[in-house]
Amino acid sequence: MRILVIGAGGREHALVWKLAKSPLVTKIFAAPGNAGMASMAEPIPLKADQIVDLANFAVDSKVDLTVVGPELPLVKGIVDHFRQKGLAIFGPTAAAAQLEGSKVFSKERMLRYGVPTAAAKIFSRYDLAVDYLKTVPVPVVVKADGLAAGKGVIVAASREEALRAVESIMQNRIFGEAGASVVIEECLQGEEVSVLAVVDGVHCALLPSAQDHKRAYDNDEGPNTGGMGAYSPVPAVSDALMEQIRTTVFEPMISGMNRDATPFTGILYAGIMLTAQGPKVLEFNTRFGDPEAQALLPRLKTDLVEIILAAIDGKINQISIEWDSRPAACVVLTSKGYPGTYEMGRPIQGLSDAHDCPDAWVFHAGTSREGGKYFTSGGRVLNVVGMGATLEAAIEKAYEAADKIQYEGKQFRRDIGARALKRKTGVKV
Ligand code: AMP
Ligand code: GLY
Repeated sequence: MRILVIGAGGREHALVWKLAKSPLVTKIFAAPGNAGMASMAEPIPLKADQIVDLANFAVDSKVDLTVVGPELPLVKGIVDHFRQKGLAIFGPTAAAAQLEGSKVFSKERMLRYGVPTAAAKIFSRYDLAVDYLKTVPVPVVVKADGLAAGKGVIVAASREEALRAVESIMQNRIFGEAGASVVIEECLQGEEVSVLAVVDGVHCALLPSAQDHKRAYDNDEGPNTGGMGAYSPVPAVSDALMEQIRTTVFEPMISGMNRDATPFTGILYAGIMLTAQGPKVLEFNTRFGDPEAQALLPRLKTDLVEIILAAIDGKINQISIEWDSRPAACVVLTSKGYPGTYEMGRPIQGLSDAHDCPDAWVFHAGTSREGGKYFTSGGRVLNVVGMGATLEAAIEKAYEAADKIQYEGKQFRRDIGARALKRKTGVKV
């Protein structure tokens, strides 16, 4: 089979790496891809949201299956367009991808299907949002409706901060049309986990739990980022809790989406807060998480192509998906300044030493290659994953390999997985 992977980050490098292991695969293209995957996938100079060009490329190059990494093309309808052309593609339609593309849509559907989530009100009028904010307790959460590159959610500690957020979103339109409506919701307390499922329209197969680390600095301090690290599985998520998440979140969502003629196929990712009242959904994403995918895919033993084909065929319930029981941890190495403005073009040393570490993998995100050398070319530069018999061992492996990589301005968190380790030693987290 000839496969096209769309996207350019660490998630897509991990996808390409896993797909390349399938005996069913003869050729992989990546659009646009990155320097790290060049040995496994032919780079195609098309951006992830050049939907028409990508479909034409897939037809001309006899691509048998397309796998989409990021949300933007999904929300813009890449799956609908590819399907119209008779091309096999894994992901939700634009209508179903609204679960990620619109916080209003997502909240309305959660409420309609009885999925546990934060109590919320939706506003498309600025004056009414302001009036409402004057009455709610703080902290309170303000969310721009549309895609805002991960910046559209403000957890406001004070009423003033919440009012400023609504003003910049709705009046100043800092996220453009994404700010035409807002969701204002109660602030949930607890530990956040990511639960992803492969969904075939009707059935789902849950992946093991994972946890992201969104803040830039140790101890969950500093600004929010695209993700500084992840690990899987999460000790706080027992089998019984996973079952509860399946029956209270995934099953009602999937059957509701089906009933309302927006069936979901692809990866459904629930960002969940483990509250004292049980798991509640913070958000849905409609694709693999980044960096959750980097921690999950090395644990996957089953052929990813078989899983994707089963999902496209509506038969995800007919295959058994095997996972390595060993935990995995992913540490993200960034450029100095990230998530603000950052430096680029710094030469990277030690990649092959890191690569040679047993039970460790390096997935590239923002790198470029010139004259046989790698350089930094983005905010998140590299993802270093370790696996081990215990989570401690996995984390140690990841840092051992990460320490072999050097470039000027290398920044990373030293405490990936620390929360889980503290829990194990009985320290209150
Ligand atoms: P989202 O893009 O909706 O995941 O929101 C980004 C982050 O904001 C989440 O990962 C949470 O850390 C936080 N967040 C979102 N909604 C809430 C909520 N209702 N209560 C507390 N934190 C939230
Ligand atoms: N890890 C968070 C995300 O992929 O959105």
